[in-house]
Amino acid sequence: MDIDLMDKKLEEIKNKSSVKILAIESSCDETSVAIVENGRKVLSCVIDTQIEIHKRFGGVVPEVASRNHILAIDNVCNEALKQASLTFDDIDAIAVTYGAGLLGALLVGVNYAKGLAYALKKPLLAINHIKGHIASNYISHNDLTPPFTCLLISGGHTAILDVQSYTNFTKIGSTVDDAVGEAFDKVARVMGLCYPGGVSIDNYAKKGEPNINFAHKNILAGSYNFSFSGIKTAVINYVHNKKQKGEDINIPDISASFQSFVVNELASKTLKAMKALNSKKLVVAGGVSANSFLKKELTKKSEELGFKLFMPELKYCTDNAAMIGSMAYYELLGGMKSADLSLTAKSTLPL
Ligand code: KG4
Ligand code: ZN
Repeated sequence: MDIDLMDKKLEEIKNKSSVKILAIESSCDETSVAIVENGRKVLSCVIDTQIEIHKRFGGVVPEVASRNHILAIDNVCNEALKQASLTFDDIDAIAVTYGAGLLGALLVGVNYAKGLAYALKKPLLAINHIKGHIASNYISHNDLTPPFTCLLISGGHTAILDVQSYTNFTKIGSTVDDAVGEAFDKVARVMGLCYPGGVSIDNYAKKGEPNINFAHKNILAGSYNFSFSGIKTAVINYVHNKKQKGEDINIPDISASFQSFVVNELASKTLKAMKALNSKKLVVAGGVSANSFLKKELTKKSEELGFKLFMPELKYCTDNAAMIGSMAYYELLGGMKSADLSLTAKSTLPL
């Protein structure tokens, strides 16, 4: 791979009126390929989800995920080109999630992307999955531009970010233990609900009342950091206690109580941070942004307090390659250089 030539191509692409990026995402249990024009227009986005495969194990089994990515990726890529009525010749650059995520799963996408970039002689953009989640909002909201405050809530991350530009962020607060999605998944699991737990809890909570006060200490009151392991343990202990006594558990009420605590925690700390930053724009990103109660609460707050709220469309809340294609465009404009064949996957990445 002639890296100087690739960087020259990237410079030329920057001046084009239409930049088409083919993006690949395989960090967890979704194999996805998308073609995105100028960071905003999704020409196609194919997502092959493995949820049904992992359901029977109660969570994602990394080795199983990697094997299924291998089986799916070529078909998913061809389907993405077909749906966009394009061929590889029409593509300006290849983008791929290289972290954070499951190492074996990421490697499938990274190696496929390297193969494509090498064979097609196209530049390769290595994209951070978490930044991609933020960019999912640029697809859903064409008028959205930085600066803004971002509440980033996924299965692996929970943070409040001050987003100054498309590529510059400052972390204002983050979780000191479990990510919020992880807490949803673990609480769902103890109640025997199906994977992914966040969706199950969201659905059950609609039929319940938030009438259980789980005993826990909020050690981080007053800071912008979150802790979800206390509430998670409180729910797990509550469920075990009930089961030991042979009593039934009320899944809708437990779900509503847990969800209400978590949403209040997320909302109150984010709003406090926005006040301190004098921010009038809130962007929510990551899988947990699909939560219906969170959406309701934040919408109410945005009307009460007069700030603008942006949340991704449901299909772009969880993992997808369109958000990677969007972020890749802004990284390109920001001066990102082409990766070469030494690119490898990273299970963790700083923002
Ligand atoms: O962003 P994502 O697809 O993957 C990561 O990058 O981690 O997020 C997955 C997480 C899972 O923990 C899942 O339970 C949670 O998002 N999730 C939800 C909902 N839909 C997905 N959590 C709460 N309510 C939902 N409706
Ligand atoms: Zn994700």
